[in-house]
Parts: sequence; structure tokens; C-alpha cells
Amino acid sequence: ADQYCVMGNPVAHSKSPWIHARFAALTGQHIEYGRRLIPMDGFVAALQAFQAEGGKGCNITVPFKFEAATMLSRRSARAALAGACNTLRFDGGFVVGDNTDGVGLVADIQRNAGVALAGTDVLLVGAGGAAAGVLGPIIDARPRQVTIVNRTPEKARKLVVSHTALAEASGVALSCAGLEDVGGAFDVVVNATASSLNGGGIPVAATVLKPGGLAYDMMYGPAARDFLAWAGAHGAVARDGLGMLVEQAAEAFHVFRGVRPPSAQVLAELRAEMA
Ligand code: ATR
Repeated sequence: ADQYCVMGNPVAHSKSPWIHARFAALTGQHIEYGRRLIPMDGFVAALQAFQAEGGKGCNITVPFKFEAATMLSRRSARAALAGACNTLRFDGGFVVGDNTDGVGLVADIQRNAGVALAGTDVLLVGAGGAAAGVLGPIIDARPRQVTIVNRTPEKARKLVVSHTALAEASGVALSCAGLEDVGGAFDVVVNATASSLNGGGIPVAATVLKPGGLAYDMMYGPAARDFLAWAGAHGAVARDGLGMLVEQAAEAFHVFRGVRPPSAQVLAELRAEMA
């Protein structure tokens, strides 16, 4: 069987091996997908070792997505825009980098949650790696506008600068604001901050939510609990990032194998498994 793995630190709780095993079983692909705990200073060596063993590709998770983007032979446009990679394919001696996080988020919002982004007002909360990874595909879905807010406004401004050409070409109004001074309400609010992990609370005021609008946390499990409860209490439809996790994996599986797995079925299975 062809060998794949997820590399990260920590990686013990990664659901990627489970998800890819289900994809493989349901599509009849013969692969083995493991997990590798990579020392903080050992990413390059680990990647070379896996290539030397004949590995076909891997997914990259925290904290190596940026480092991965710097050591590629080729990279997709979406990986270049994000400045980060979560999917590497070994092609001969070459490493080809991609980023499937953003299309995973957009697929979960549009297909699984049934919310079309075209023409909507989107608020992206956060401007770190998680936000950078999803902004391009959000713009590609042609919302009316995307506003980015972040605790450190300079980082939001940088994301606006790096995505302005794409936004203009797509007819999307892209802007940024401070966490405190964002005005108006949004059809879709995406939380891409690590605030809950840092005990930071909800980063934005409830006035950004629309009744019946979508409030999406890119995290899942306990890390998403407070944001989802807050959003629900203010009349928004709350959704965690489990579907994004499965959909980014589905897109990576397609990069690896050229086959699209039944992601909605596997998401339902994973939710049942975690309940
Ligand atoms: P990631 O790769 O997960 O995005 P990151 O690059 O460290 O990680 O970014 C974390 C994001 O969460 C940033 O937007 C960060 O805001 P800053 O850019 O100001 O650091 C945001 N964040 C983290 N803790 C926060 C808190 N307590 N309140 C508000 N935002 C927070």
C-alpha cells in the first residue's frame, strides 16, 4: 500500500489517520495513513526520512504549516497565497505543496451547512495562520464583502494587502478593522482565533451576529464550546470546525489519489464516533 501520514507536534489526537482510513475503505484505495510526532527542530529531517522510505505524501499540522511552505519544489496558488501548506505530495524527488484548509472550510459552509457565500457579508475574526489559510478560498466564493478583524490590527492589514489583487479580480470588497470598532452585522462570522485556547473569551461583540446568520468556529470539541454557545444565545446558527476538518482531508485525499471520497458520510460517522 502507498504510505501517507500526518506530521505535527502534538499529533497524538489527530483524527486524520481515522478520516483517511475511512476515505480509503469507501473508495477502494489501498493506502496506509499514519501519524508522526515531529520534534520542533526536526521537520526537514522528518520529511526527508519519509520521502526516503518511499512515502507518497503527507499532511502537515501545527506548528509546521509555515515551515512546510518554505521548502517546496512547487506549490499551488492557494498555498502561495496562504503562505502555509497542509498537504505535501512527493513527486519523484520533488515536494509539491498545497493548502486545502480554505476549500475545506468553504465546502463545509456551502455544501454541509447549506449556506451559499455568494453575495454575503463575511467577518473573519483573527489574522494568524488559520485565517491566512482560508481567506483566499472565501474570496473565491464571491461574497459581497469580507471584513477582517484582529486583536493586532497590523496583521489584519497585512492579510488585506496580500489578498487585495484577488479580491479586486473577484469583485469582493476586502477591508479590516479593529476588534472593538467593527460596525454592522454579518451573514457569516468565522472565528479563526486561538482565543479560546488562551482563555481569552469571545473576541468580538455580539452585534456582529445576525439572527439566523452563521457563526462558524474553525475549532471543534471543547475549544469551540464557548463561541458556539455565545453565538447560539444571540440567535445565530452555530457550527464547529469538524466539517472543515473532514473536508480539508477530502480535498487532500483528492490531491493524493485523484479520487473524491464521500466526505459528508464520513463527517456523519465522525460526529457519531465523537458523541
Ligand atoms: P493560528 O495559526 O492558529 O492562526 P496564530 O498565528 O498564533 O495561530 O494566530 C492566533 C490568532 O488568534 C491571532 O489572530 C491572534 O491574535 P493576534 O494576532 O493579535 O495575536 C488570535 N488570538 C489569540 N489569543 C487571543 C485572545 N486572547 N484574544 C483575541 N485574539 C486572540
